[in-house]
Amino acid sequence: MGHIKELKKLPPEREKVETVKILRQLSKTSQSLGELKGIAKTIPNQAMLVNAVVLQEAKDSSEIENIITTQDELYKALASQNKPLSQVKEVINYRKAIFTGFELIKQQGFLRVKDLETIQKTIIENNAGIRAISGTVLKNDKTGEIVYTPPQEKNKILDLLSNFLEHFNINQTDLHPLINLAILHYQFESIHPFYDGNGRTGRILNILYLIINDLLDIPILYLSSYINENKSDYYKFLNQVNKTDKWEDYILYMLKAVEETANYTIRKINKITNQLETTIEKVKEEAPKIYRKELIELLFEQPYSKIEFVVEKLKVERKAASRYLKRLENIGVLKSEKIGRENLYLNSELIEILKH
Ligand SMILES: Nc1ncnc2c1ncn2[C@@H]1O[C@H](COP(=O)(O)OP(=O)(O)O)[C@@H](O)[C@H]1O
Ligand SMILES: [Mg+2]
Repeated sequence: MGHIKELKKLPPEREKVETVKILRQLSKTSQSLGELKGIAKTIPNQAMLVNAVVLQEAKDSSEIENIITTQDELYKALASQNKPLSQVKEVINYRKAIFTGFELIKQQGFLRVKDLETIQKTIIENNAGIRAISGTVLKNDKTGEIVYTPPQEKNKILDLLSNFLEHFNINQTDLHPLINLAILHYQFESIHPFYDGNGRTGRILNILYLIINDLLDIPILYLSSYINENKSDYYKFLNQVNKTDKWEDYILYMLKAVEETANYTIRKINKITNQLETTIEKVKEEAPKIYRKELIELLFEQPYSKIEFVVEKLKVERKAASRYLKRLENIGVLKSEKIGRENLYLNSELIEILKH
């Protein structure tokens, strides 16, 4: 394994993280993010937007699983009382974890180690917590080569985590929070405090950090789709910081990711709100008797609706709810699909928007 470089505590040297190139990119990124924050505010039903975008992120983030830890087997053994997790279950858990984190931030405005554990546990569904047994290394999944060895002793991990949280909760430097976002993400991934789920937990922390710093009000900016599309650079630049302490490429990468994702999310929000308007008009015209704004908004909170959702949201009887959904199917707004014993109603236009 050779000599293992120790992970340094935060903050890194300022000249390394605040170069001219970084500052130039920063102003573009801030502008896009500011625009996204503004547009999100104008949307009447924020739950609708958050649900739709979070679902997409949950799927994307769960797909970034290129690096396999050698502790995967141990981890699986620890989890073995549970049934094996299906892909779908993981995505649902991830979404739950985002909301759990968002609630924590709204309630207390900061995170503690046990909150990190709560978020990770929600994703992974096991109680292993912070790594206590050594042996976790990051490997290139294609070549099997060890690319990085995170700290091994639990005390060391806790010490680095507390340094991480000090900087996460309160900006200790006068670096721009978006530069800090990149630094903190690197640091969390390099501490790699858990046997598994570090990538996904770290990507949830990114969004929470934006909210803590008032760069966004609601959790709607997710980098996983960008990272998926530029995955080898993500690993390469994380690795470059590990090995050489050169931050510029990595920070530029993260700033670019935030900029492009903000722009992409703005376009997506516009598409969703346009489609919502179109649907409202269509229902008003073709099924005026059942038209209610909340009903149509509900169809945009998740791609699938069912009777229970309508009952809960509109406070109507099951019979009425069922009639609404059937009527919406008649006029071509929804498509029903029998899954097991349940009837689900699919908003295929929304799915199309979310897919692209
Ligand atoms: N060289 C590296 N240095 C630090 N972190 C890395 C490096 N390479 C990959 N990572 C991080 O490790 C994550 C994978 O760890 P893992 O615990 O399996 O998370 P998950 O199961 O959520 O994918 C990657 O998504 C990435 O964020
Ligand atoms: Mg993993």
